[in-house]
Amino acid sequence: MGKDVITALDFAGREQALAFLDLFAAEERKPFVKIGMELYYAEGPDIVREIKARGHKIFLDLKLHDIPNTVRKTMAVLSRLDVDMCNLHAAGTSEMMKAALEGLTRPDGTRPLLIAVTQLTSTSEQRMKDELLINATMRDTVAVYARNAADSGLDGVVCSPLEASFVKEECGKNFLTVTPGIRFADSAGDDQVRITTPAKAKEIGSDYIVVGRPITAAADPIAAYKRCVEEFVS
Ligand code: C5P
Repeated sequence: MGKDVITALDFAGREQALAFLDLFAAEERKPFVKIGMELYYAEGPDIVREIKARGHKIFLDLKLHDIPNTVRKTMAVLSRLDVDMCNLHAAGTSEMMKAALEGLTRPDGTRPLLIAVTQLTSTSEQRMKDELLINATMRDTVAVYARNAADSGLDGVVCSPLEASFVKEECGKNFLTVTPGIRFADSAGDDQVRITTPAKAKEIGSDYIVVGRPITAAADPIAAYKRCVEEFVS
């Protein structure tokens, strides 16, 4: 898979999500989309099937974290939805990640890409220390979790674009980095703190950028999407 822009469908329900996708109906390039907990829990697996049937690639962002047996069986269910990418928390440890891969692999040997969340970008080093009793630095924690994911056979991690280069150094250039926290140089940051532009994310080496509000809340979402593609893919 080459570099791509993943548009986050952070909508409360089917109607809003499909109205947004309808804007792209006449476009040649169908956006790769991310369905997160909000839309999935509101609408269930039917929304995944419906968007897939419209020809979009799907990153199902449900961030699984449970005992290995439960994750294995759940991943088998998600795999049957024919999504292209799904994810879990690396904090579930290698045993859980390996079980997830087993569950995800279809009888014909194919499977969606499996990506690990290392530490959420909303978690600070201070909270890691005070509440999770992790005394290592954020950088070391992200590097070790990424290495555990790679050693377990996963395809990559979700990380800040600013972490993408050292994750590649740690896990090899083919280990995928999927990076949210993207803003255009001339737009507001919203609640994201560690942000960068699509062009800069390309320069650093991200494989996929995840973009929500800069596209979904734009006055002209198609123009905003095309600008991301222009800066990041072209
Ligand atoms: O609107 P915005 O571009 O900030 O949306 C970014 C998307 O990426 C959201 O769906 C958010 O949940 C997701 N995400 C993130 N940071 C992470 C993991 C996921 O912003 N560490």
